[in-house]
Amino acid sequence: MPDAPALSRPAPETCEDAVRDISDSDISDGRSHQSHRGVLMEDLLGKVALVTGGGSGIGRGSALALAAAGVHVAIADVDRDRAMAVADEASWRGTDCFGMALDVNDLTAFETARDVILRRLGRIDIVMNNVGVVAAGLPEEIPLHEWERTMSTNVLSIVRSNATFLPLLLEQGSGHVVNTASAAGLFQYEYERMPYSVSKAAVIALSEALALYLHPRHVGVTCLCPGPVATNIRQQMTFSGAPVRMRPPIKGMTPADPMAVGDLVVDAIRNDRFLVLTHPELHELLVERAMDPEGFLAARIRSIEEG
Ligand SMILES: NC(=O)c1ccc[n+]([C@@H]2O[C@H](COP(=O)([O-])OP(=O)(O)OC[C@H]3O[C@@H](n4cnc5c(N)ncnc54)[C@H](O)[C@@H]3O)[C@@H](O)[C@H]2O)c1
Repeated sequence: MPDAPALSRPAPETCEDAVRDISDSDISDGRSHQSHRGVLMEDLLGKVALVTGGGSGIGRGSALALAAAGVHVAIADVDRDRAMAVADEASWRGTDCFGMALDVNDLTAFETARDVILRRLGRIDIVMNNVGVVAAGLPEEIPLHEWERTMSTNVLSIVRSNATFLPLLLEQGSGHVVNTASAAGLFQYEYERMPYSVSKAAVIALSEALALYLHPRHVGVTCLCPGPVATNIRQQMTFSGAPVRMRPPIKGMTPADPMAVGDLVVDAIRNDRFLVLTHPELHELLVERAMDPEGFLAARIRSIEEG
């Protein structure tokens, strides 16, 4: 493990500024050490993380929890001001945290982010792919371009991230990838946000296959499947056609606190846990579905019919 990077550098305004700011002498070879016990990362002190969508909600909660665990965090968000604000907050925890503008739809932006982080912090250990957008409407009324936008932002963003960061993690022989899916991808309880739930089911499948590949290579994978969380997610929802209602996976679920979700993420990285649920009752539903898929679907249809 290289020495922890200096903590005193001022945050760059943009990725481009950060590239300009940093001299070649800051670059390390990014090589390292395997975790001494498989893929466990019990000691996070001095590790380096990237959190996409880190400017709000679950990304913010995770960035702050990682910083509190001693991790240097690059907070990336399409909204640069949000990323910078969270970086300021995270820096109070005493690690080197900085914000950057990054649109997860842009492969080049990922590559720039990778270069900025390596130049500034010398390594990357944890990649949290956290961005998700929601397109709502009846199945026949959501236009194709909303499907394309959702799949690009929620699923192909992780493909872009993998292409950028997996070679580094594989070469190191250590690290951890966290993908934020959703309870909406675990099983279907509504039809009003189909591009979203389909994209999140894809994130779960992608994460599971990735774990098969990466775990023997000493890189951990976590798939975060939150139920409702009190965030700003509604700000970026799009609605097509007739108004639709938003249903939770289970009636009356209490929204989780994004800071508590951040703690769950850190715990999962430390202990190399794959599936993270924010609400334990989701687990009971998964068991119910596995025991009786026909009965489970019939119960969901009844529940929608009854309103
Ligand atoms: N809030 C919930 O109830 C809930 C439930 C299940 C899953 N999730 C998932 O959690 C993740 C985080 O969502 P949240 O609830 O914290 O929402 P949020 O809106 O509070 O935060 C999302 C952040 O992502 C940023 N963002 C949006 N598009 C981006 C892009 N193209 N590139 C980079 N950044 C972008 C936004 O600016 C925002 O800061 C999403 O994947 C979401 O699907 C949320």
